[in-house]
Amino acid sequence: MTMAPHPRKIVLTAHIASTLGWLGAVVVFLALSVVGLTSQDVQVVRAAHLVMEPVAWMVLVPLAFASLLTGLIQALGTPWGLFRHYWVPFKLLISVVATIVLLNYMETFDMMAIVAAESTFANGDLGGPRSSSPMIHAALALMMLLVATVLSVYRPRGMTQYGRRKQNERRVVSQR
Ligand code: HEM
Repeated sequence: MTMAPHPRKIVLTAHIASTLGWLGAVVVFLALSVVGLTSQDVQVVRAAHLVMEPVAWMVLVPLAFASLLTGLIQALGTPWGLFRHYWVPFKLLISVVATIVLLNYMETFDMMAIVAAESTFANGDLGGPRSSSPMIHAALALMMLLVATVLSVYRPRGMTQYGRRKQNERRVVSQR
């Protein structure tokens, strides 16, 4: 079913806002993880680790799902389709993988917040909680979302076999 122009614009606006909001939030997480990794002030490291967990639940997770949902509606409700042009399922794959990795990583954020909340956490403990893992995950997520953004804007022409078959069917119907 193809959406009318007005609802299509509304969903596209929600899609762009949620996906680019997600990308922006990942940049903030990259900055927080760099602060957590490099700061010499234990209070700053604690603050960075404490804030990541609730913000990930309140911002990253909802935006990831909003992006996925609005993307699916756009694909299914427009002539682009879900499996007609390679760029669409490729973006779906990127979104699903990024969302699954994020959900798995929530446990790490929880652990980091628990350690940072401990009152015994002091300057001497800085080596323990420091890990490059959040920074690496944020950098990889950013790269994946940038690839998805480039795909969305350039929309490479390649069509799947299914897409070509559907296009031919439409041509035959319109020639009748
Ligand atoms: C990884 C996260 C994603 C990012 C960063 C992203 C980004 C974007 C952007 C910026 C646009 C607007 C392009 C334009 O109008 O010129 C767009 C459109 C679109 N996206 Fe996504 N998207 C993502 C995920 C998805 C997913 C998961 C799907 C579907 C499975 C999807 C399907 C679509 C479709 C079909 C359009 C075209 C809509 C139209 O022309 O009305 N996107 N996306």
